[in-house]
Amino acid sequence: MQEPKLAVPSRRLETPAGEVLIFSNAEQASAIAAARVAAIIRLLTSTNGKAVVGLPTGGTPVEFYKGLVAKHRAGELSFRDVTTYNLDEYYPISPCDPQSYRSYMHRHLFANLDIAPNHAHVLDGSVPEPFVAEHCRMYEHWIEADGGLDLQVLGIGRNGHIGFNEPSDVSSDEARATRTRLVSLHPVTRADAALDFGGEERNVPPHALTMGIGTILAARSIVVLAFGSNKAQALAGALSGSVSATLPASLLQTVGGRVTWFVDESAAADLK
Ligand code: F6R
Repeated sequence: MQEPKLAVPSRRLETPAGEVLIFSNAEQASAIAAARVAAIIRLLTSTNGKAVVGLPTGGTPVEFYKGLVAKHRAGELSFRDVTTYNLDEYYPISPCDPQSYRSYMHRHLFANLDIAPNHAHVLDGSVPEPFVAEHCRMYEHWIEADGGLDLQVLGIGRNGHIGFNEPSDVSSDEARATRTRLVSLHPVTRADAALDFGGEERNVPPHALTMGIGTILAARSIVVLAFGSNKAQALAGALSGSVSATLPASLLQTVGGRVTWFVDESAAADLK
């Protein structure tokens, strides 16, 4: 990916949910986000000897991952001392299924840089149902044993979900206490995923394993990517609407000092 000529955001906002950097297009925002994350990884690995990073999937981070891979190929970034934890995985799904998030991560990132296989963690959508809760507990335990997440990178759903923490009418305190677990996917999420599953919503797995909002908010820093006009409404609500589990991304306002948003002008259309 080419470094964009304009290396600064076109607008910058301070919001309750953190600093928002607005770029004229998604490609530019992705390149700058990749440069920022690469710099954080370099700093962490040189000062602490390691970096523990949470990662998203979906359409949004594809260019961002290209940016990281380009930096690795240019000799500017190594994942030798990086451990990653993906946010979520469909359930049930085989890790070998091309639509699994394990496959996605292999294609877009893991196979293209120097991360050790036992440092690149994705929840396993093929765990037998009676052992799912134990698998989710172990995932939390691995993150904790690694010293917690230094950095969490997020996308945001059209319905405001983060990870697969879907809109819910529980209290925001209850939502903030959620940890890695099995969840049901919201109809909007299944509709949005249908294209990846042969255009049929009924082919989308009904459930997912996801880090909880509590797991995400515990990260020492958070980078959120949001591109396109279909994210505009959720973005505006998340940044400055009321804090509520009905819009999970709004809970980022409770840790706003640790969050930086990289967004494009289309996603920022509803921001004042
Ligand atoms: C995926 C994830 C989701 C996505 C969100 C946006 O790992 O955690 O929250 O970030 O659904 O998806 P895209 O980027 O496809 O619009």
